[in-house]
Amino acid sequence: MKPIKVGLLGLGTVGAGTFNILRRNQQEIMRRAGRSIEISMVAVRNSEKAARLIGDTCVIVDDSFQVVNNPNIDIVVELMGGIEPAKQLAFTAIANGKHVVTANKALLALHGNEIFKAAQDKGVMVAFEAAVAGGIPIIKSLREGLTANRIDWVAGIINGTTNFILSEMRNKGLDFATALKQAQELGFAEADPTFDIDGIDAAHKATIISAIAFGISMQFDKAYVEGIRQLQAVDISYAEQLGYRIKLLAITKRTARGIELRVHPTLIPSTRLIANVEGAMNAVLVQGDVVGASMYYGKGAGAEPTASAVIADLVDIARMATADPQHRVPHLAFQPEFIGTEAILPMSEITTSYYLRLHVSDQTGVLADVTRILANFDISIDAMLQKATADESQTDIIMLTHQTQEKKLIAALEQIEKLQSVLGSMTRIRVEKLT
Ligand code: HSE
Repeated sequence: MKPIKVGLLGLGTVGAGTFNILRRNQQEIMRRAGRSIEISMVAVRNSEKAARLIGDTCVIVDDSFQVVNNPNIDIVVELMGGIEPAKQLAFTAIANGKHVVTANKALLALHGNEIFKAAQDKGVMVAFEAAVAGGIPIIKSLREGLTANRIDWVAGIINGTTNFILSEMRNKGLDFATALKQAQELGFAEADPTFDIDGIDAAHKATIISAIAFGISMQFDKAYVEGIRQLQAVDISYAEQLGYRIKLLAITKRTARGIELRVHPTLIPSTRLIANVEGAMNAVLVQGDVVGASMYYGKGAGAEPTASAVIADLVDIARMATADPQHRVPHLAFQPEFIGTEAILPMSEITTSYYLRLHVSDQTGVLADVTRILANFDISIDAMLQKATADESQTDIIMLTHQTQEKKLIAALEQIEKLQSVLGSMTRIRVEKLT
């Protein structure tokens, strides 16, 4: 069978990784795909640098449109990132009848619905294993391995940078700023790490997971996103004393009233496997009604792990390119005519448990006042700690609540913060038992 021809947009870390692995494992990949996969054109900004990396093995151009408009290219691999020009290039490639492989989670979370519609109309595939959790085949698992299941929820550590920062804060007692600086020095976090630490990168990935877990459209605009910028070392330490670890968790859950889609720092019992995912590693825990819980662990970023996912998509396309489009795996795991309309619940409607930290004057009746307000809102306390502070006239009270609705908790906190004995604002972090 003749080789399948690939055009690569971008030759950064992942692009170079893809190029190298395709060459290194050429025989093994060909034996699996049934035909060889050849990169025949690469679009880059700096063609001299690219030539140093890949020699004269393929055509190097500086205009990406030359790749997507080249009639000899079968598959376009988009590894540029960002929305434009990646979006326009993806639509042009699809319009030209080319399959697309992308690692671009932002593009899919924001514009996936239109991109998949265009691909479906044209009968081409858009594959995106590399967009979520790097080398972990979580898209494959959700779309194919778990098709017997009604998925109940998915919870994941899907941003390596923030997991590295949280691990350093807990293991070394560092504050957020110091841990972030270390992540940047080690090359985990970008020079502008906003997307990582503010939870946006995880929310892009969670939006994609939510769509394929439940068969709904991409609804990034409805996702709740809270990063780790405000997290204090003292809360990591108190959480630990209560038997919990704090992770930036991406959660999507099916409930009777709608679907939850949220990313925020979360206390997880430290006995859970996922609570022990350390450093820049990723893990995704899926609860299905048939299989129960299954967990997927591995490297969520980096040249070779991400190239592993890109090449898996290339092999899938090579195998399925001649198949009738109706018989391919649907983009969002469910057949397009069965994509649901379930709404993402507003955050005020979600149900979870909470970690609360209050700084109070150490005087008679403070605790009684606080617990009375919580009781008035039907919020039950699960565990409590009282910790001395440097000032003997003040103390920290740390509470874990049982499950309640977020809007009840917010209303209770408003009243508690008005108490004269409560000093400053309270800290509130959500808790998930993951059972
Ligand atoms: N910036 C991401 C992370 C890697 O830290 O996990 C690619 O998605």
